[in-house]
Formats: sequence, C-alpha cells, structure tokens
Amino acid sequence: MTDYKRVLVTAALPYANGPIHIGHLAGCYIPADIYVRYQRAQKRDVIFVGGSDEHGVPITIRAMKEGVSPQEIVDKYHELIKHSFQQMGISFDIYSRTTSPVHHKTASDFFKKLYDDGIFEEKETEQYYDEKTHTFLADRYITGTCPVCGNDGAYGDQCEKCGSSLSPDQLINPRSTLSDAIPVKRKTKHWYFPLQKYEDFLRKWILEGHTEWKNNVYGQCKSWLDNGLQSRAMTRDSNWGIKVPLPDAEGKVLYVWFDAPIGYISATKELTDKWADYWCKEDTKLVHFIGKDNIVFHCIIFPAMLKAHGNFVLPDNVPANEFLNIEGDKVSTSRNWAVWVHEYIKDFPGCEDVLRYVLCANAPENKDNDFTWKDFQDRNNNELAAIFGNFVNRTFVLMHKLCGGKVPKLHTDILDDLDRQLIADIEAAKAKVENALEGFRFRDALYEVIDLSRKGNKYMQEKEPWQVVKKVAENPEAQKSIDNCLHLCLQLTANLAILINPFLPATAKKMLHMMKVVDRILDWENAGKINLLSVGYALRAPEILFRKIEDAEIQAQIEKLRAGSVAAEAAQKVAVATPVSSTPAVKPVIQYDDFAKLDLRTGTIVAAEKVEKADKLLKLEIDLGFEKRTIVSGIAQHYDPATIVGKRVVVVANLAPRKMRGIESNGMILMAEDADGSLQFIASDKEVQNGSIVS
Ligand code: MF3
Ligand code: ZN
Repeated sequence: MTDYKRVLVTAALPYANGPIHIGHLAGCYIPADIYVRYQRAQKRDVIFVGGSDEHGVPITIRAMKEGVSPQEIVDKYHELIKHSFQQMGISFDIYSRTTSPVHHKTASDFFKKLYDDGIFEEKETEQYYDEKTHTFLADRYITGTCPVCGNDGAYGDQCEKCGSSLSPDQLINPRSTLSDAIPVKRKTKHWYFPLQKYEDFLRKWILEGHTEWKNNVYGQCKSWLDNGLQSRAMTRDSNWGIKVPLPDAEGKVLYVWFDAPIGYISATKELTDKWADYWCKEDTKLVHFIGKDNIVFHCIIFPAMLKAHGNFVLPDNVPANEFLNIEGDKVSTSRNWAVWVHEYIKDFPGCEDVLRYVLCANAPENKDNDFTWKDFQDRNNNELAAIFGNFVNRTFVLMHKLCGGKVPKLHTDILDDLDRQLIADIEAAKAKVENALEGFRFRDALYEVIDLSRKGNKYMQEKEPWQVVKKVAENPEAQKSIDNCLHLCLQLTANLAILINPFLPATAKKMLHMMKVVDRILDWENAGKINLLSVGYALRAPEILFRKIEDAEIQAQIEKLRAGSVAAEAAQKVAVATPVSSTPAVKPVIQYDDFAKLDLRTGTIVAAEKVEKADKLLKLEIDLGFEKRTIVSGIAQHYDPATIVGKRVVVVANLAPRKMRGIESNGMILMAEDADGSLQFIASDKEVQNGSIVS
C-alpha cells in the first residue's frame, strides 16, 4: 500500500472573511487532521499545510460591509480562524496566508511562466460593469436569477441553491451586488486559461486513472468533462489581489482561484527548504481535503495548471465531503444559521474532542448530512460517555479496587473463550481501522474504535470481576480470573488510546497520563499488541474522559441558533434597502500627470439664485480672488440660495465652459455626497485666500 515515500496533505484555504463554522470542520479539516495524525502515528514522512485565502471578491465584499479595508478584514479573520483551528486540535504544520510575500512571488512567477510559455489566450470582451461604483462585475459582485433552477439570488460564479457553476452572462436580470444598479457592458482585457486543451489529459488521468476516487468526486469530474471544458479568465479587474505581472496590466489582478491553490505550494515553501521534494518528486502522495463546492477547482482547474506549468506532482486523491446541514436547514452565514467554532469552544470548554467525535461520526462523507444538538448530546452521553468513557473508567476503578492499583498478571494457563475472543478482537481492530483510514472512510474507522470499546464493556459485563471477588476468600484461585480480566481490559485501554488518537487527540493524551506511559506508546505499530503495559506497573487514578451534557445546555444552544437567525434576518431587511457598499469602490488608478491637469482653486460664493424652469440648478457667482466666475451647479434641491452666500468652496477652474439653460457655466464646485445622497461643501477649516491652488 505504501509505494510512496512522503505524504503531502492540504486542507482548503478558508476565506478570511468571517469565522469558521462546524460545516467547515466536518467538510475537510477534521478528516484531514485525522488522516495526518494517523500518518504521523505510522511514522510516515507527512506534512500538513493550510492557511487563509485572503484575496478575491469574498474579502472585498466583506470589507465594504464592515466599512474597513480588505487588509483589516484578512488580518482580523486570519487570526480568529487560526486560533479556532488550534483550539480544535487541527494540527497544521504551517498555517500561512495568501497575502504573504512568498506567496505573492510564487503565484506571480507561476503566472509569468504560463504566460511566457504562451499558454494563455489574451482576449478583450464585453463584461458587466457597474457605473455607480466603477466596478467590473465578476463572480460575487453580480447576482441575478439562476438559469437552471430559478433561484433569484444566484451569483456570477455559482448558484448556491442548485450548485450550478455560472458565468455573469448566464444570469437573468443581473444586478450589481454593490449598488443594486443594473449593469452595463464594457470592454476589458483578460488572460484566459484554455482548459479544453487539457481535456484529453484530464479524462485519462481521472476517468481512467482514478476510478478509486469517491463517487461524489468522480461523478462531478465526469460531468464537467462530459459537458465540455472552456477557456476561463485567470485575471480580474480589481485592486485587491496579486498584480498581474505584465506591463499594460494596470488594475488587473490574478483571479483568486488561480492564486489560492498555489498557496499550498507557497505554504510548503515557508515550512521547509525541502518543499520541492514534496511538490516535484513522483513518489509523493498528494492529498487535497476539500468541501464539495471546491471539487472542480482541485480536480480540473488546478491540475491542468500544474500540468501546463510542468514539474509538479498531481493529487493522488481529493476526498471531498458533502455539506453538513444544521437542524434540518442549510448552513447560511448571511442568515446566521450556523454553529460558529469559536463560540462552541467558549460554550463547551474542554469538549473539543466531543465536537470532533460528532462531526466525524456523522460526517457528510457521501451525502449531505444533518447536525442536530440532540444528536450531539446523544452521541456524547450514549456513545462517548456511556461506552468508551465508561469502559476506561470501570477498568481503572476495578484495577485499583481489586488489583492494588497495578497491572495484574496474565495467567495464560486459565485463559477461557471470552478472553481469547477479546484478544482476537483487539488484534483485528488494527486492520479494520487502518483499512478504513487508508480508504478515507473516517466514519467507518471511528465506528470500529467505538465498537472495540463496546466489546470491552461486554467482556467486563460477562466476566463480572466484582462478583468473582466475593469467592476469593474461599477459593484463592478465583483471583486469577480477576487478574486476567483486568490485565486484558488494561491492554485494551492502551489499544483504545492508540486507535482513538487520530480522532480524539486530547482524549488519547488523558489516557496516556492515566496509564503513566510515554507518547511513543501511541505509535501505530503498537496497535493490536496485548503487552503494552507491563505487569506490576502502578497506574494513576481514573479521570472522567467525557462529562455528561445536560438537556439545559442543549436547549440553550437551540435557542441561541434560532435567536441568532432571527436577528440576522431583521438586519438583512435593513441591508436590502441599503446596498452593501455605502462607499463606492475606488476608480481605476490614474497617474500623477492625470491629476496635475486639474486646476483646483479656493473661492467664495458671493451670489446665488435659482435658474428658471430648472428645479435642480443654481446660478452661482464665485469670487476666485483674481476674477469672478459664473458657475451653474446642480444643488438647488439641497440648498436654499439665500443660505449659501459667503460659503467657501473648491472650484475646478479649468473645466471647459458649458451652457446650461442658456447660462454659460465656467467651472464646477466640489461637493461631497453622503450615503443618503445629501451634499456638503468642501472647504478648508481655516480661511484661505480666494484663488489659492488646491493640490
Ligand atoms: N477559499 C476557498 C473556499 O472557501 C477555498 C480555497 S482552496 C484553495 O471555498 F485551494 F484555493 F486554496
Ligand atoms: Zn440554481
């Protein structure tokens, strides 16, 4: 099974645009972490890379919503997400970020290489443009009705309802997400990656070469390939992202889905000088853990990019999970229908392993699945506490009571069928768990571990050492049966620690402490052995591994979920009236020379009157110091002419004259427009001589 020398595991880089919820954990981080911990226990050369995805529209939209810069958004959420992962025991070897300089260089060089090799098609096309905010509307900047399912909140890249991948042109009744404006078409140039040229390669590699991939993954790939691949733009018009490394590419950045997966390579570079061993040597096993919405990017687009670039290994497997719903409803961050990981950690301190357990036992491995708080409570109380925890606890309590707190002897001469069966079960469990883990069947693997503890409980129940002890006084031989029972139960406990370790690392640690043994015991090669604890060795007192979770705690969580979503809905109603961006996006970059052409001067309004038959216009006389000017200004609905005489203003003094309602206007006064449309004069806070230059 191991014809590879090293294992490189990646987990999707979450957008640093909000906290993570349990759907993220169930979708990819928990399976990835279990897999990695198992590989480490196998003593394989494995590294686990992750990080934040910090570019793209999800970030800029969030920045506008919070009214701060994209940099502030990614700084804030990168830290929050990183901390949540740490608390949950997701053991990345590096958790980097795509704003790192190493990544900017790596992604930029990657693009440049494809460009130099003539891979890209350069095309000028008409794209939707929002004239209000001066933004090209790609991806999530544009919404409309999905042509496939009729959902009227579909995005320019995807419909979240039916999962169809879309382009802005396919949306019916498109609107700008930023301003709600109806977009117009404008020309813009971009660099396209010709996916169709890689179709043959992809077909052979996936459809023939990777029939072992999970059905959901293989099926999605097949449907993409059968529908025919097309060129995809790998650049965007934006000023947030990695600049396109070409002359003549002002205001263009790399498409976030071009740069983000390269982030795996960059993170590996940051982690180790030997990064090229992991990325370029054929005997590396590369595994991408992702959620199902990422399949096309990791199975089709990124591999085609790697192939086009050359010199990189391709993923050996892409075990994507489906989605986890909450209490019967799809997770929605905008409706706040989610269980946030940082809040769980606060509400259930010390219960991180319980969440890992529930999300693995109930993982959406082959189909969407449901998380309910009741199921969470049941699994904790009835499985973790009542079966696994109870077995370990009973074993320790009885060992202290009946065997003097030391590992008793195994009297092989009196082994009975129950003992032999238990030994066989311990030996068999290793292969069962291992096969399931190697095949990315994490639920099955975890089930086997719990099942082994269930067998331990049953064995103990049948052996009844607490009854046997009553006979010891008249028949000292009876103690041997007690010894055997507890010897085997203790060896089983050590085995359980090894087997549960990838899934519930904090629990395994507690068990090591109770057994007073070193970490090395957890090496996978020790599983299946029944000589892990030496006879006569004194062990510690038992600790409770899993506390009971009370009805009141569950009730509180259900109420919190409902209250949170009601509040979010109310907030959303307000937000619909005000589009996400109260501050329009910054216009495309200009050079200093462009700015220097403007002649801005200070002046004072010395006369103002309404323009007849024009309800918006005022005729103003402006004293510029060196001369007086007539300027017609569209502020009549905002200011009564009588109130503005004497106001200081800034004037564009070299604007070409223009006739309005028969009056020649010689310039323009600058006004600031608020989100509510009200206008304010721009002036210096101290009096400045009229005619002064503003620059
Ligand atoms: N940020 C993406 C998401 O949350 C995942 C990016 S995975 C990577 O859907 F490969 F691009 F990094
Ligand atoms: Zn749809």
